[in-house]
Amino acid sequence: MEKSRIISIVGEKGGTGKSTFAQALAVYCLKEKGLDTTLVDADPQETTSDWADERNKNPDITPINIVQKTGFIVHTLKDLSKRYQVVIVDCGGQDSEAMRSALIVSDLAIFPFRPKRRDLKTLVKMEKVLRDAKVHNETLKYVALITQCPTLPSQLSRIDQAKGACASFGIKPLKNITYYRNAYDDCDESGLTVLEFTDDKARDEIVSIGNEIWEILK
Ligand SMILES: Nc1ncnc2c1ncn2[C@@H]1O[C@H](COP(=O)(O)OP(=O)(O)O)[C@@H](O)[C@H]1O
Ligand SMILES: [Mg+2]
Repeated sequence: MEKSRIISIVGEKGGTGKSTFAQALAVYCLKEKGLDTTLVDADPQETTSDWADERNKNPDITPINIVQKTGFIVHTLKDLSKRYQVVIVDCGGQDSEAMRSALIVSDLAIFPFRPKRRDLKTLVKMEKVLRDAKVHNETLKYVALITQCPTLPSQLSRIDQAKGACASFGIKPLKNITYYRNAYDDCDESGLTVLEFTDDKARDEIVSIGNEIWEILK
């Protein structure tokens, strides 16, 4: 069996798209890569657990294993990584024990940011969080994902500026991004992801991001 990977989706702000992306990446790993994948919902708000419950009620779509666990999750993640090829952690939207402990055992941390000042202001804090994590986990890789980008060509510079801000804090931005598309919100209702929905552009975004992430994990 290929080496197991733990991927944490991290951030200190709500609404950046962490849960949506954790779910989409899990389905990408499961269906596009054919890997045994589990999601861990470490957010007390339980957004991802609710999504998975909805999904697993639907007999027409591939179910996904979901584990709900907050607090110190090192042992849970290590244990899951013995049984699954990919473990994806939705860390929730605040500096928490779950987030800090997930980073200790993760192979990759992904930080979603919208190209907005209030999201990017949290880079200062995230840089510190990473510095702490690296004391315990020297091989931790980490990237930023710019999400919910405006599609207007006149707004392109905002995306470049957001990528530049991430890079200036030492968090390399992924080349691929997500744009603001209703499909990301609408697919949630029946426990789907954009990979299983009607908007091909959104689907292509997630596949490109998934492929880029897999290159990094190689
Ligand atoms: N690329 C996107 N385009 C449009 N809406 C999005 C996108 N990504 C996420 N959303 C929506 O934004 C809201 C917040 O996303 P969510 O994943 O719950 O954020 P977080 O977990 O970071 O708080 C949800 O309503 C979600 O459907
Ligand atoms: Mg969330």
